[in-house]
Amino acid sequence: MQLANEVRNQSIAPQPSLPQKSTSTLLPTTAHEIDRETIEDGTSQSAEYLTLAARATNDAVRDWDVKSGKLRWPQGLESLLGYATSLSTCEIDFWQHHVHPEDRPRIATSIREALSGADHWSGEYRFRRADGAYAQLLERATIVRNGGAQAIRFVGSLMDITARKQLQDQLCHSQKMEAFGQLASGVAHDFNNFLTTILGYSDLLLCEPAVKGQIAAHLGEIRNAADRASALTAQLLAFSRKHPMDARVLEVNTLLARLDRSLLPLLGENISVDCDLQSAKGGVFIKVDPGQITQIILNLVVNARDAMPTGGCLTLATGNLHIAAGASPNGSSLELAPGDYVSIRVTDNGSGMTDEVKVRLFEPFFTTKHDAQRSGLGLATSYGILRQSGGDIRVQSELGKGTTVTIYIPKVPAPPPPSYKRPAAKKAPTGTETVLVLEDDIGVRHISVRVLRGLGYDVIEAANSDDAQRLITQTADRKIHLLLTDIVMPHMSGRDFAEWLRKTSPRTKVVFISGYLDESSQGSTPGRSGMFFLPKPFDPGQLALKVREALDFVAR
Ligand SMILES: Nc1ncnc2c1ncn2[C@@H]1O[C@H](COP(=O)(O)OP(=O)(O)OP(=O)(O)O)[C@@H](O)[C@H]1O
Ligand SMILES: [Mg+2]
Repeated sequence: MQLANEVRNQSIAPQPSLPQKSTSTLLPTTAHEIDRETIEDGTSQSAEYLTLAARATNDAVRDWDVKSGKLRWPQGLESLLGYATSLSTCEIDFWQHHVHPEDRPRIATSIREALSGADHWSGEYRFRRADGAYAQLLERATIVRNGGAQAIRFVGSLMDITARKQLQDQLCHSQKMEAFGQLASGVAHDFNNFLTTILGYSDLLLCEPAVKGQIAAHLGEIRNAADRASALTAQLLAFSRKHPMDARVLEVNTLLARLDRSLLPLLGENISVDCDLQSAKGGVFIKVDPGQITQIILNLVVNARDAMPTGGCLTLATGNLHIAAGASPNGSSLELAPGDYVSIRVTDNGSGMTDEVKVRLFEPFFTTKHDAQRSGLGLATSYGILRQSGGDIRVQSELGKGTTVTIYIPKVPAPPPPSYKRPAAKKAPTGTETVLVLEDDIGVRHISVRVLRGLGYDVIEAANSDDAQRLITQTADRKIHLLLTDIVMPHMSGRDFAEWLRKTSPRTKVVFISGYLDESSQGSTPGRSGMFFLPKPFDPGQLALKVREALDFVAR
């Protein structure tokens, strides 16, 4: 309302400073000289021209009656801005409320000045479309005055220049980052030479026998400072895409799952975390330096945390982006070559950013935080690392609502499986004998039982010797052909249990399983008196073979 009133009051008020025009200058030769009545009584031809011209340019047209505050949209309200045509006759407040709040004061001042004396006005501002997104508009308006030179109508044509503005911004951004990058890498390079010298001589001196006590302590401080400075120059090099990378192929969800443990303690209790990780069969792979990608994600999370000092919600999500050859990525400012990308998105519902911060946030050393530990290099180095890896980063933020930072990294094919040779696919030997599996480790016991049952064996299982003894006594009529037992178990060892069993059932074969080599060397010579050994880890094929071998063994 404020702008409308301000503008209305100003324009309606007589302008004493303006020279009064004579009637002869009111000839309808230029737009501003056309009297209101002349337009209203105008032929349908001129109305048609207006419509055609507007259609040809795909612009919207707004016609503001400055005196009454009525606003008409003869063209483009729906096609350009998405609003229903029922709104095409409304009040000037409608326009004002949809101008971006940050652009409103600037535009109000500028229009006010134009109404007080100019024939034309033009300006760029953001306007909220029906879908909630802001379009960047260039408005060019003509101001119609009455005989008293008072502005009575303001007729503007509004052109959507969002894409052009994005391109311009992108170009400026790239040029700015390029210049910063060159500066940063030059500084880092020279400083690294100095630091190498400082570090080298500090170490040499520290090795001198004469250097001790207070002097050694002072030297140690110099050395530590040089170390910290080296970390800083490494970050500057990362920003300028000159940092050597140790790129490896990593699976995205595995990487994030591992990070999970480091992230949670960073966030504190008043921030809840929501994860939305897309999973794909066989995983999704990227080629990055593991240390650097960790640093990027941690910085995004810490930034999100800092933006929510009184708590909030952080979302970590992954997604995919395909950029077809010749396409502009998502119609956005992303600088990505055609191909497939993984996106990792960190969203917070914190403070958001002002326009000034948005423009500067990738500048090295730009920070709004008053903490001595903050260098303002987090996003700058992330940017450098991602660009060096063929990726990009995009920030969307709304003041007071929150921020989403998305990083894009090129996908790479899955790495070849680790080079271990599978045993030749031989058919595992089967059997129908009864096997007692005695193993306290639930995982090993379950897999052994499962494999042996699958092979046809009749399997009894027990987690300890006491249970096993009870089972055997209860089912005395059931002959146990083979005992598969761990050697080390609480209470009674597998070896002792085997002795006990073989007292009543001397023909029962025994296969000891163990992860310790030294245990296998004790006692049983393979095969002798029906005792066998199977080292952990074993695979199902090895188990099947060993069990069959033991069962088939005939004592001489
Ligand atoms: N999620 C966010 N919400 C609000 N502002 C943010 C967010 N992320 C970054 N910023 C703004 O961008 C600035 C730069 O961020 P950047 O990570 O580069 O540096 P920093 O966090 O200030 O310091 P450093 O990362 O070196 O510890 C921040 O100081 C902050 O003003
Ligand atoms: Mg940071």
